[in-house]
Amino acid sequence: MHGLLDIESLPRPEIEAILARSKDFQPAPKQPFQRFTTLQNRTVVNLFFESSTRTRTSFEIAARRLGAEVLSIAVAASSVSKGESLVDTLNTLGAMRPDAIVMRHAASGAPHFLSRYLPIPIVNAGDGTHEHPTQALLDARTILDRRGTLEKLRVAIIGDIAHSRVARSNIFLLSKFGVEVVLCGPASLLPREMGKMAPRVELTTDMETAIRDVDVIMMLRVQLERQHEAAFPEGEYFRFYGLRPEHVERAKPDVIVMHPGPINRGQEISSEVADSQRSAILNQVENGVAVRMAVLERVLAG
Ligand code: CP
Repeated sequence: MHGLLDIESLPRPEIEAILARSKDFQPAPKQPFQRFTTLQNRTVVNLFFESSTRTRTSFEIAARRLGAEVLSIAVAASSVSKGESLVDTLNTLGAMRPDAIVMRHAASGAPHFLSRYLPIPIVNAGDGTHEHPTQALLDARTILDRRGTLEKLRVAIIGDIAHSRVARSNIFLLSKFGVEVVLCGPASLLPREMGKMAPRVELTTDMETAIRDVDVIMMLRVQLERQHEAAFPEGEYFRFYGLRPEHVERAKPDVIVMHPGPINRGQEISSEVADSQRSAILNQVENGVAVRMAVLERVLAG
């Protein structure tokens, strides 16, 4: 596997292999993570042009647990702030011969564009509104842990669908396993064309309809940083699209509540739900390390 750019072009057997391998990297309950030497003498560069807590940290931990050296570059303190272009920045880093570059960028397609010029594998850690492949993989790992299978499931993805790379990667991944996906949000954040991404994708603006009979409720943050005008009246969002205990009570008794984070309590999800037994939010974070170990191993060690 030469890098990981998206889920759309990743064949199902590759996804299955990563998910299976990530299971080996999950620690036993209350046990510390194991350390490996698989990537000894390898160097991974983390280059994040957008802010991140979960993805950047878990890639760094994942690389270290496999024995690799990691350099995390703070873009604000790099020569990007002096006007250096993306191509020149990547070529400069490439000249130092790291073994892989993990990259997040606000422009959709930036890692795809660069991977055509650089011989070094690039792992996409989120590109604009396009894809966030490792998020979808860790989400799938989390669903598998609770359900044992992805097949025959029905998943609701609720919130700012229009700007969500997490939604897009999840739609691609879940659809490869025949999952029914319901996309829900205000009409202004629910592009009709996303209903055509896969055969079993439905759209609704009604939250009650979205959560009916689903196995998983995946909530999304409203991405104000990607909106140029207000898509919804301020203060009204939580009333119509905030997940509250009464929604979970009306859903399937074993429904799983997920959120890629960062969560905005009282906007798209209430604290009662985020901190409840139904919530898998911290399991998602924990699985981020195991899944990213599996991805880095596959990219760097074959
Ligand atoms: N889920 C996710 O990408 O979180 P971060 O922005 O904190 O990395």
